[in-house]
Amino acid sequence: MGEIRFLDDKGTFELNNAENYSYLYFPLASARGLKSSITPNLGGDSKIDQESFLLEPVSSENLHNNRSTRNFWCLVEGEKPWSAVGASAEAEDAKFTDEQDANTVTGGLMWHKVSRENAARSLRSEITSFVPVDANTEVMIVRVTNTADREVKMSAVAAIPVYGRSADNIRDHRNVTSMLHRIRTTEEGVIVKPTMSFDERGHRVNHTSYFVFGAEGNGNKPEGFYPTVSAYLGEGGSFTHPAAVFCKKAASWMVASGETFEGEEAVGAIRFREEILKPGQTRSFVVAMGIAQEDENPESIFSAYRTEKEAEQALAETREYWKKAVNVDFHTGDIAYDNFLKWVSFQPFLRSLFGCSFLPHHDYGRGGRGWRDLWQDCLSLLIMDPGDVRGNIINNTAGIRVDGSNATIIGSRPGEFVADRNGIARVWMDHGVWPLKTILLYINQTGDLDILLEKVPYFKDGQAKRGTYHDASWSEDQGTLQRTETGEIYKGTILEHLLLEHLTSFYEVGEHGMLRLRGADWNDAIDMADARGESVAFSCAYTGNLRDLAGILRRLHEEKGIDVVSVLSEMETLLQGEGAEKTETESLYQDRVIHTVSGKTMEYGVEALAGDLERMADELQEKIRSQEWITEDEKAGWFNSYYDNSGNMVERAGEDVRMMLTGQVFSVMSGIADKEQTAKICEAADRHLYRREIGGYRLNTNFNELKFDMGRMFGFAYGEKENGAVFSHMTIMYAYALYSRGFVREGYKALQSLADQAMNFDVSRIYPGVPEYFDAKGRGKYHYLTGAASWFLLTMVTLVYGVRGNLGKLEICPKLVKEQFDEKGIAKIHLTFGGKEITVSFSNPSGKDAGEYRVKAAACNGKSLEVQEDRLVMAEDVFASLAESGNEIEIELG
Ligand code: G1P
Repeated sequence: MGEIRFLDDKGTFELNNAENYSYLYFPLASARGLKSSITPNLGGDSKIDQESFLLEPVSSENLHNNRSTRNFWCLVEGEKPWSAVGASAEAEDAKFTDEQDANTVTGGLMWHKVSRENAARSLRSEITSFVPVDANTEVMIVRVTNTADREVKMSAVAAIPVYGRSADNIRDHRNVTSMLHRIRTTEEGVIVKPTMSFDERGHRVNHTSYFVFGAEGNGNKPEGFYPTVSAYLGEGGSFTHPAAVFCKKAASWMVASGETFEGEEAVGAIRFREEILKPGQTRSFVVAMGIAQEDENPESIFSAYRTEKEAEQALAETREYWKKAVNVDFHTGDIAYDNFLKWVSFQPFLRSLFGCSFLPHHDYGRGGRGWRDLWQDCLSLLIMDPGDVRGNIINNTAGIRVDGSNATIIGSRPGEFVADRNGIARVWMDHGVWPLKTILLYINQTGDLDILLEKVPYFKDGQAKRGTYHDASWSEDQGTLQRTETGEIYKGTILEHLLLEHLTSFYEVGEHGMLRLRGADWNDAIDMADARGESVAFSCAYTGNLRDLAGILRRLHEEKGIDVVSVLSEMETLLQGEGAEKTETESLYQDRVIHTVSGKTMEYGVEALAGDLERMADELQEKIRSQEWITEDEKAGWFNSYYDNSGNMVERAGEDVRMMLTGQVFSVMSGIADKEQTAKICEAADRHLYRREIGGYRLNTNFNELKFDMGRMFGFAYGEKENGAVFSHMTIMYAYALYSRGFVREGYKALQSLADQAMNFDVSRIYPGVPEYFDAKGRGKYHYLTGAASWFLLTMVTLVYGVRGNLGKLEICPKLVKEQFDEKGIAKIHLTFGGKEITVSFSNPSGKDAGEYRVKAAACNGKSLEVQEDRLVMAEDVFASLAESGNEIEIELG
């Protein structure tokens, strides 16, 4: 039985025999761009982007072989060589027998350690890997200890196979691209600099170098190198049995520094001299592998980690950096859960570094993040690093087009969007929902209503009329900013951008009056119903948003005294509903803004505008309530989530039940499901979707049909990914919706089943954190890179602990259930709000449950504060008087 043991309250954990579990991988990355994955045998890969892979790219299925593993061989005189990472033919033979090395993985935020012990040889190794925050280098600190009571003579060979090119070349010209390699040895290692990036669409001169360097812990240089695969493996050798390690005469063909080689596959194989190891003595080494770009000098990069002491210093700084960055701490009654939450809070950082690509399961995409991911990840930044979120929001908003759709290709720099060159492309109809959700949270956390009036440009490319038309008058030389008829760049307020996203969606309806599904919604895999598909789920989400927009407009009026706002004059068509039919209104507007906009604006009364938005929301809500509700019996029912490409309702009650979670999440979140309906939805979800043993609520029931008038999801086996897996992101949004509607027990159940599953290593088989989904057997898949993490954090902080902003004012209104307090009845959270560090502790001495208690008394730094009905709202002057750190807020519940 495997068990994750936590060693502190900062997420550090330990797992014995980690190599006996398949598909385990761990992320390491720098803020500069290097992204590595590492397995218990130090397999995995490392890269900056799709074009620049230092180690050969791996998918999850490549994790079972040790081809591209980082290796470290210990050569003890009179003994067979030993792989200190367990990547050898011998280690493979020993698997599942008593001869297997004892091995343990220890993991912390951005560092990974594997310890192994070989009883027969009396050797113990400890290899710590990390990527410093500001370097494109992965560092390994290796320590080998002689555990015998006799002296031994030991030399060593570190071996890192260098792939050094684009992931595309794994299949496209793998051999030809090795001919481009120029390899040279230096005093400390091997540098590979291909002559060019091979791409038949246009070859480019290459300026990137890939390197592997090594030194002894005291800084002594290595003895020699085997810089090519042929020299390292020898004729007939393999990576788990290389000639340079196993052949007695291997020392004779190692090369010195200053040698060059051409046109071969490369390895950073570094030989260290033989030395005596006394009983109990430890020898240490440092190995660094990385990527140097343009004018960077690989050797000077290594100079920062040349000795064990320097490498240890860099490791300490790296650990400190990430510990500070992940600045939320939870204290519930369960230390394992608190540590699990640490990893969840760390995951949004991982997603901003890795995007949705570049870990072994995430073997698709070419880097970067999608539109909804960009906005969702912002949610957690608002909680952990409010630094430049405003700037991010402004930059991201400029990705919206005047037709209400948005750029889908997002560049690597903030606010960089890339034109779609293919003309007509896919439109994901949910995209308009996410910016408002993030901006609302931002406004509430900070009180910065002014951001709504900030003016930003619109994105422009050849796509017009929401992806259905190609604007032939546009060409790339006109740039990617929307212009007016007279050629000026048009800027509108953020409020205007948000209005456009919602109004254009509102009018784009299908035959049942629900918003058209188009290319897909949140569920990327419902992608085969472009013609007639409709998303009731996101009709609900837009309805809720229309109401929120109205609400925020009213706040703008109340707080800032703003009576009128100006919007692009063409929008009058949408605001007046000019067409006879909704779709006609849509076309009238879209025809007006195909290529340019007038640049003229008209003023709109804030009250009237808010009223119009509410009327639109009422209309849609009424239709959904009357048309989409499915009754199972007097206790259970739910909302239909979709119409398929044949124009049919997708869900049904009765014998062959079809139910999907998505429609329930957004009908509850938006308030379309009333209280009674919400209770019935919970009952139905428990009946048809809930499986405790695999993590809780599945995304849908089994349709037992290859329903290709809906999407590719029905091609997936039931229980995988979007077809009926316990999909974390949707489960958490379900929990969020339930908590926000006061269904605390139900929300807790959704959230806790998921967390329990993740933490049940024997079934989930993942390191701590929340994976994208749990499959039909309950195994965690697509670990780390998931929007679920941001939403988990958001739910915990703002709803469960209830620590949040209300137009910038600190408000505390907990919904903790009795299990979430420790044995003394205390629960705590430490976080930064409004630039100040605070610890909030809740005391619940009589062990009451959510709903039974309310905030009875509150004090801050010892001074008591006045509480409102069920919450504390801290007065602005009190908050302003707080120091930057060390603030203690005590909340008494009763
Ligand atoms: C992934 C995608 C996300 C998409 C979801 C459902 O989910 O990244 O954009 O909405 O699948 O298709 P994630 O787990 O990353 O949130």
